[in-house]
Amino acid sequence: SARRRKIVAGNWKMNKTVPEALALVRELRGPVSSVGDVVEVVLAPPFVALQPLHVALEGAPFQLAGQNCHWEASGAFTGEVSAPMLAELGCAYVIVGHSERRQLFGETDETVNKKARAVRDAKMTPIICVGETLAERESNRTLEVVERQVRGALAGFEAKEVAGFVLAYEPVWAIGTGRNATSAQAQEVHAAIRGLVGRLYDGETAGRVRIQYGGSVKPDNAAELLGQPDVDGALVGGASLKAGDFAAIVKAAT
Ligand code: G3P
Repeated sequence: SARRRKIVAGNWKMNKTVPEALALVRELRGPVSSVGDVVEVVLAPPFVALQPLHVALEGAPFQLAGQNCHWEASGAFTGEVSAPMLAELGCAYVIVGHSERRQLFGETDETVNKKARAVRDAKMTPIICVGETLAERESNRTLEVVERQVRGALAGFEAKEVAGFVLAYEPVWAIGTGRNATSAQAQEVHAAIRGLVGRLYDGETAGRVRIQYGGSVKPDNAAELLGQPDVDGALVGGASLKAGDFAAIVKAAT
């Protein structure tokens, strides 16, 4: 795992106005600058804050991410934002397939795959989210569900593309609940995902793809989760909205 640079991302979801977003990054800048060469730090604000943050973060060790995109580059898709538009605003990443989008906005393995392709075509990196519901875990279907989602998302991609991707394991029951997966539960699924990438591609690709854990990551559980051999970073929701908490999680990745 030493050759995989850790990646900690803050998924702000539908939080922070532009002035609030600017205030948060002003607070984060100092603490994150000191560790920015060891850990990759990514911020995924609402779309409307991307341009102001792109300007404000010039030269700072943060990458920007979109929280979603459409798979078409342009056209009559009222209310949608395309991957090339995000790339032009300085985004390096786009989150695709977040469970909230799967549950609330009809995202499927097929649309996740099309979006990942669009992100890649726009020369950005997808952060592809997968994860089981509580009912699926309780019926021992966790690995089956996660493997189906990973296979679906990666359909048609070549090894050299996938090697640069970021996957995020986010058990649905751990998102926003304060109930994180244990480090053993996370490690088990991360190892299974890496094993699947190895079977679908090869050992080199499996060794390079980065797999984040997401779901109630907090300053007090981050080090333990990030210490697992197949946990390459964190995708942080609620705790990314507070500068002190997010900075502490970034530090735990060092
Ligand atoms: O994408 C991050 C996320 O879904 C986890 O949210 O609030 O449990 O950290 P939270």
